[in-house]
Amino acid sequence: MAAPIFLILFWVFTFSCSVFEVTHASPDIHYPFHIKGKQPQHDSHFELLQENTTTTIHFPSYGDLLVNSISYDTKNIYLADPKNCPHRVFMNLNLTLTPFQYYYVLKNYTYLNCSTKLSSPFIEIPCLSDSSYHVYTVDPALPVPGSCKGIKTVAIPFKYSPYRSDNSFGLRLTWDLHDSREEGNQTRDSYMTHYAVVGVIICVLVMVTLVSIKVHVSRRDFDKKERQLLLADF
Ligand SMILES: *[C@@H]1O[C@H](CO)[C@@H](O)[C@H](O)[C@H]1NC(C)=O
Ligand SMILES: *[C@@H]1O[C@H](CO)[C@@H](O)[C@H](O)[C@H]1NC(C)=O
Ligand SMILES: *[C@@H]1O[C@H](CO)[C@@H](O)[C@H](O)[C@H]1NC(C)=O
Ligand SMILES: *[C@@H]1O[C@H](CO)[C@@H](O)[C@H](O)[C@H]1NC(C)=O
Ligand SMILES: *[C@@H]1O[C@H](CO)[C@@H](O)[C@H](O)[C@H]1NC(C)=O
Repeated sequence: MAAPIFLILFWVFTFSCSVFEVTHASPDIHYPFHIKGKQPQHDSHFELLQENTTTTIHFPSYGDLLVNSISYDTKNIYLADPKNCPHRVFMNLNLTLTPFQYYYVLKNYTYLNCSTKLSSPFIEIPCLSDSSYHVYTVDPALPVPGSCKGIKTVAIPFKYSPYRSDNSFGLRLTWDLHDSREEGNQTRDSYMTHYAVVGVIICVLVMVTLVSIKVHVSRRDFDKKERQLLLADF
């Protein structure tokens, strides 16, 4: 009699625990972002494009960047350059008219375009250079060498380094909306998180209780059987 009830309760609570997990793990793209053509855009501030399995965001000053991930609570968006050249992004991306800014502390650097290779410690940026010209990031205070022309001076997160040259290095932006609606949604989201945490804790407690009841019941059954055996012996 006890066993079937135990099984049903066990099943119900396992099920509700997994529902909590699913609701907590779900949507990746939501306000303030939306996917063009797939999600309604009312109230959304940023449009993302999804093609095949890649998600991209378009910046008029540069073009498309890949969206690696978004962290809504820290307001970070992790991007990557599909053309594998973060320094071309740094050189061209103008965030002035967007709500985005680099996550990192910025420093002004001058991009130089030189007809001859500069000697160490200058290291050319391979993806911006060619056999006939060499591009460098240098401190704007340095005098421009004779064989070079300054392309532009921009505030960027990192100067070029061959050790930090993967396609996502430095491409982490944060956004600022000054929007009361977002505050409300954040509060709602954190309530959801709290509910999920409380739900999981309740599930665990109930499971532990059920398991200990089950152990207790089978121990009692065992004791009863043992006593009956002892009685039968006499
Ligand atoms: C998506 O897939 C189609 C067909 O498989 C292909 O032609 C297209 O280039 C792909 N687009 C991207 C962005 O990978
Ligand atoms: C970025 O764009 C703004 C507005 O269009 C412009 O005023 C500014 O000069 C640009 N910055 C750079 C570094 O090009
Ligand atoms: C970069 O230089 C410009 C012009 O001199 C200046 O306005 C800006 O504050 C500098 N940015 C940083 C991050 O130092
Ligand atoms: C550097 O200069 C060369 C020749 O003057 C030009 O073709 C090239 O586009 C320039 N590169 C950059 C990144 O400005
Ligand atoms: C949260 O954002 C949605 C749009 O995604 C909006 O419809 C809703 O009103 C917002 N919620 C609050 C509490 O402001």
